[in-house]
Amino acid sequence: IWKMLGTTPNIKHIVVGRCYNYVTLVNPGLRHDCEEIWRQFEGAVVCQSSCNVTVEDYHPMFYAMPQTWPCDKFLFWSKTRTLMHSYAAVMRHFWTLEDTLVGYMFNDLIWCGQEDTGFDFDSCPEWLACRNHPVYSLWRQASQNFAEMACGNITVLLNGSIVNAFNRLSMFGSVELDSLNPLKVNYVNIKVVTNLEGPHL
Ligand SMILES: *[C@@H]1O[C@H](CO)[C@@H](O)[C@H](O)[C@H]1NC(C)=O
Ligand SMILES: *[C@@H]1O[C@H](CO)[C@@H](O)[C@H](O)[C@H]1NC(C)=O
Ligand SMILES: *[C@@H]1O[C@H](CO)[C@@H](O)[C@H](O)[C@H]1NC(C)=O
Repeated sequence: IWKMLGTTPNIKHIVVGRCYNYVTLVNPGLRHDCEEIWRQFEGAVVCQSSCNVTVEDYHPMFYAMPQTWPCDKFLFWSKTRTLMHSYAAVMRHFWTLEDTLVGYMFNDLIWCGQEDTGFDFDSCPEWLACRNHPVYSLWRQASQNFAEMACGNITVLLNGSIVNAFNRLSMFGSVELDSLNPLKVNYVNIKVVTNLEGPHL
């Protein structure tokens, strides 16, 4: 299947609203220009063929939203999304990609452009259908930036109920792991967690 849902309706209001929410309430003190971030995002995506947005196209947007984190708080995860949410909720000092401004703004959204007419609200290509998928490229660059910032004692949450808890093809295995800086990361705390009901692989 090559087509999936189109761009999330009202994407501009959602993205800009989340940005204002983040810089006003979630992480006050950040001086980011939400309208400018949106303009850079739009510049990368709209009026492009839907499979033709590279990570480089997003560089101006990322440049408009620099962010750093204190060490020892970085939490990476792979195939443990549900668990990660409750884990990070309980262990409140952890930060995941979704706690960064870019992760917060684009979480769960879909988008792709259309030559000539802006966003394509009818259908977007499947995530893995093309090399330069606009959603994939953004998450790839966001993941890389997050991993490059990581320092100190970091934590990785893997799924012990699936065959390949560590998968080289996952975003963690293919992008984040290779972006960690061995001069900055001094300890990797790997937690392999199974479902309560198993299987315990
Ligand atoms: C893809 O983008 C590049 C540069 O942004 C452009 O030169 C090229 O024509 C585009 N290809 C398609 C198929 O739209
Ligand atoms: C492991 O992966 C399965 C299948 O994706 C998922 O249903 C389950 O919630 C995951 N387990 C943990 C502990 O994250
Ligand atoms: C790293 O952090 C984990 C989880 O917070 C902790 O259990 C572990 O002892 C720490 N390791 C070092 C060497 O500080």
